[in-house]
Amino acid sequence: MYILGIETSCDETGVAVVSSKALLAHALYSQVDMHQAYGGVVPELASRDHIQRIVPLAQQVLKDAGLGLEQINAVAYTAGPGLAGALLVGASVAQALAFGLGKPALAIHHLEGHLLSPLLSSPRPNFPFIALLVSGGHTQLMQVQGVGQYTLLGETLDDAAGEAFDKTAKLLGLPYPGGPALASLAEKGDAKKIKLPRPMLNSGNLDFSFSGLKTAVLTRSRALKELAENLAEEEKTTFLAHQYADLAAATQAAIVEVLVSKSLAALASTGLKTLVVAGGVGANLHLRQTLNSALDKLGIQVFYPPLEFCTDNGAMIALAACLRIEAGLIDLNQAEFKAGAFSIKPRWPLTSICTLRT
Ligand code: KG4
Ligand code: ZN
Repeated sequence: MYILGIETSCDETGVAVVSSKALLAHALYSQVDMHQAYGGVVPELASRDHIQRIVPLAQQVLKDAGLGLEQINAVAYTAGPGLAGALLVGASVAQALAFGLGKPALAIHHLEGHLLSPLLSSPRPNFPFIALLVSGGHTQLMQVQGVGQYTLLGETLDDAAGEAFDKTAKLLGLPYPGGPALASLAEKGDAKKIKLPRPMLNSGNLDFSFSGLKTAVLTRSRALKELAENLAEEEKTTFLAHQYADLAAATQAAIVEVLVSKSLAALASTGLKTLVVAGGVGANLHLRQTLNSALDKLGIQVFYPPLEFCTDNGAMIALAACLRIEAGLIDLNQAEFKAGAFSIKPRWPLTSICTLRT
């Protein structure tokens, strides 16, 4: 069975073909360079760019997989959550393609794609596991018993971890997307030189909050700028470069400490021995190193998707569809999967794919 997967929820056009859980080919076009000039994603530009990229990417993926379009058994696409216009592009192309082929079209929840993306790594994690989902829009700890069996253990009450990276990076004058830029500036700094809050570290539950951290960074960066005003021009640049590097390192350390601490608490409270990390922030090396050393001591296994599948991609959407079919959660003969009429769900709630822990 061959599944074509299409992802267009935000600023990445991703297309992939998966066959019985194995990834055959994938292609991705990132719009980062285009949005960089605006300091963030411009939804209308994102939609227009998806339109331009999607068909050539699909053609490339089919060629790389050595498949003809007629060999595809179903077309899966991200139906939400995400930017409405961007989602519509992927959904329309997927539905049109499926309709033309007389094959089913499968609407996939973007977060389920992220949640199952560590299964693209080798070796694969076994169920059950705890998933730490950390992307630009989401920060969640989930208990994953199997495909389609998810329990929400905790989540952010305000900003997502990726958003915290992006917003603090912007305060330091770094380009969009802020996560990787802040991480690389952090390498030059010393986290111990600046004390920042660890929001909700001791809240006694598995929820997160990152907006206070952003305010602390804002206050600190303003104070640094004021201090710099009293320096000569050439000293000013060096002073701010050093201080901003320390501030970047301290910000990253604060975010990572909270993520690691809550992940350990989730593992302890459920007694599970496997953690998987998914979403764009999962690419952060400091997070990976800190988790690896903390979990190694406890004999807990940790899995990450390959770096290229941490951020948005078509492979995770095709894989999620494939796993849902194999788990019996999608019956391709069901009327609801018949291509034709469709809607996208920009605010598709997480509760529609998981239960809340009481
Ligand atoms: O999963 P993703 O591609 O998109 C969403 O579904 O939101 O995640 C994008 C987020 C952005 O906030 C980006 O800054 C962050 O992931 N990110 C990183 C790193 N690479 C991407 N954050 C910290 N360190 C990184 N290396
Ligand atoms: Zn995502």
